Amino acid sequence: MKQMDAQWWKKTVCYEIYPSSFQDTNGDGVGDLKGITSRLDYLASLGVGCIWLTPVYASPMKDNGYDVSDFYKINPLYGTMEDMENLIAEADKRNIKIVMDLVFNHVSEENAWFQESKKSKENPKSDWFIWRDTPNNWRGIFGGSAWKWCEERKQYYLHTFGDFQPDLNWENPEVRKALYDVANFWIQKGVGGFRLDAVVYIKKPQDFADGKPDASDGMVLIHEMTANRDGILDYLHEFKKNVLDGKNIFTVGEANGILPEQLKDWVGSEGVFDMLFEFNHLQGGDIWYNPIVLSTLDVKNAIFQSQKATALNGWYPVFFENHDKPRSVNAYFSKAADKALASKALTTLLLTLRGTPFVYEGEEIGMTNVDWDSIEAYHELNSRSQYEMALQEGFSHEQAIGFVKALSRDNARTPMQWDSSPNAGFTTGKPWIPLNENFKQLNVALQEENANSPLAYYRRLVNLRKQSPVLLNGNFLPLLADDPQIFAFRREFEGKALTVLVNLSESEAHYDSSILSGQKLLLSNRNDASVGILRPLEANLFE
Ligand code: BGC
Repeated sequence: MKQMDAQWWKKTVCYEIYPSSFQDTNGDGVGDLKGITSRLDYLASLGVGCIWLTPVYASPMKDNGYDVSDFYKINPLYGTMEDMENLIAEADKRNIKIVMDLVFNHVSEENAWFQESKKSKENPKSDWFIWRDTPNNWRGIFGGSAWKWCEERKQYYLHTFGDFQPDLNWENPEVRKALYDVANFWIQKGVGGFRLDAVVYIKKPQDFADGKPDASDGMVLIHEMTANRDGILDYLHEFKKNVLDGKNIFTVGEANGILPEQLKDWVGSEGVFDMLFEFNHLQGGDIWYNPIVLSTLDVKNAIFQSQKATALNGWYPVFFENHDKPRSVNAYFSKAADKALASKALTTLLLTLRGTPFVYEGEEIGMTNVDWDSIEAYHELNSRSQYEMALQEGFSHEQAIGFVKALSRDNARTPMQWDSSPNAGFTTGKPWIPLNENFKQLNVALQEENANSPLAYYRRLVNLRKQSPVLLNGNFLPLLADDPQIFAFRREFEGKALTVLVNLSESEAHYDSSILSGQKLLLSNRNDASVGILRPLEANLFE
């Protein structure tokens, strides 16, 4: 393994791969590890220095790998341990680190730990999960009660997500040790870091009292009761001590609901992780029939606050997409918006804000949402339960499917669009999930040939970023904070500065050009950029 600068992850781009949908090599319609290895040169050409793989462990795949049955085995759908070792080695040759997803809040019901625990109260692993004689009124994140009856043990177990994903009992030191062993096993294999899934939910409150009901059925969302509870950081510091200390391992936690002012406890010198994904700038939220709709001003405020919170201590993962969210060009812009231009506008922010950009597969070419009219077409379980919940609340099919279209996780999970050949070059077989119908017009091969494409623009910016000490190290100064259309800021480093202005609205915007202090245009997502005015979705960089 090559020697790396201790903070290598600050200077690179991370690319998230959803293995099922990236590249298939054996014709079974599901992407695999060999497929990822075969695309490493493409990823290197995107300036990627780190690949976050969503879970590739053995799993019954009810939640596409987030239900782990064995952390020490590779899912045969994706290949073998040898394929994994080969991927790590080939990536390393290109200076790319593999980051594994640690799903440590819960496991699959098929995991041997749970199989033991459910046998009886006397079993040595009896206390590895959270068992109760009576359920409370908590609703699971994927709908329904967060408790499931187990006939064998004659008790209920807690599950934050699906009822096939029992929550681990972090109070039990044996459980924690078993999880640290898993992480250390993968460090031995040569991975460069971890993303910690759903990590804010690991510590449950002591009393399990019913919370204030949020719905007509008297239930309360479980994560309102369990997220970021007192004592959670003690566990995480223990994880750090047992897994991370003394090693050059990079970490990013998934931390829905952490506020900017809490970041200091989580990242930086006093914290646990290098970065934290908080979701305050993302559209959508948890209840799709009552979605959070953020204005440009809201998005800006959320990102400005996180930038401020990590300015002196800690670091920020810049992201607009992941495997749980709709495509960003749909989430942030109207149906009618010019999606190629919109993609370039967001890419501008992604690659110029202070922090490490996290690109989700296909985002670099501006992949878009799907438009499926029947709930049967959707694979992922949250879409189905959100649809049911909307119907129960009295919405019509048209309305309910509209919520699903806007926020379904399947939007981001359709196969990667490599070229215009059948199945977009993703597979020679039948894809496990249908392709987005626009693949013949929107794919990597076409964009490689087009100097005006989102991909070409992405590459220009990534090259600029790589060579710009201002973008890599510079501090962040918000500009035009109250402007409802323009996302503007300046980066400064050692006497040099770069100003970024992005019109996130679909109408023309004007600004006082004195904020540029005479700087000259360096790059734009349009050919006719000028000063003082931004056309719809225009993004300009001044130097
Ligand atoms: C992952 C989801 C997954 C859930 C349960 C998350 O937050 O990103 O894809 O369904 O955790 O593991």
